[in-house]
Amino acid sequence: MPGMLLGDIVPNFEADSTFGRLKLHDFLGDSWGVLFSHPRDFTPVCTTELGRAAQLSPEFSRRNVKLIALSVDSLQDHHGWSKDILAYNNAESGSEFPFPIIADAGRHLVETLGMLDPEEKDQTGMPLSARCVFVIGPDKKLKLSILYPATTGRNFDEILRVVDSLQLTAHNRVATPVDWRPGDSVMVPPSIPEQEAVTLFPAGVYTRDLPSGKKYLRYTPQPKPHQE
Ligand code: BEZ
Repeated sequence: MPGMLLGDIVPNFEADSTFGRLKLHDFLGDSWGVLFSHPRDFTPVCTTELGRAAQLSPEFSRRNVKLIALSVDSLQDHHGWSKDILAYNNAESGSEFPFPIIADAGRHLVETLGMLDPEEKDQTGMPLSARCVFVIGPDKKLKLSILYPATTGRNFDEILRVVDSLQLTAHNRVATPVDWRPGDSVMVPPSIPEQEAVTLFPAGVYTRDLPSGKKYLRYTPQPKPHQE
């Protein structure tokens, strides 16, 4: 099954969506993008995931990130399902679903992008899409991919967290440690020599002593985030 590697240009595909005909690169413009697939409309886990993504949509917008969902059902199903998701969220009546859902009933896109789960089949034996997440940079390159099976819902707070890390590390020569949250100290990557680190990080570099005596655990305060 074809897929994508980090750094690949995400194909500029054209597709029908609940926001009309969409061409990926034009839709994204200068924004970042999060393209995520679902196994099926009107299914329980997917409904909770899309509900959470809709709640977090203003947070993604604030970071200049456009959300795009995709599943292997028709546009008509997507429109009906969006209403269910808004009701699940107890959204105010008259609310619009905040981001497009791509209709890929022919499974062409999920196949091309490597989003199919061969283990998970519909009633007719056709494979469903997995829970795939692609984070796309403003240069249209794949920055991060996550692949979960149909039976495990994703954590959209984690997707927001990785966007914060990706945006920070796109503009600063730093790395974010385990469970990093915005505002926490960040790490100086091993590729930066000690002397260069001193000039690169005027706020200071703090090294943790380790039994090996090697000085690789280097922290520095988080640089100011770039306005995306
Ligand atoms: C769900 O979204 O609940 C789901 C969809 C396909 C397989 C299993 C669960």
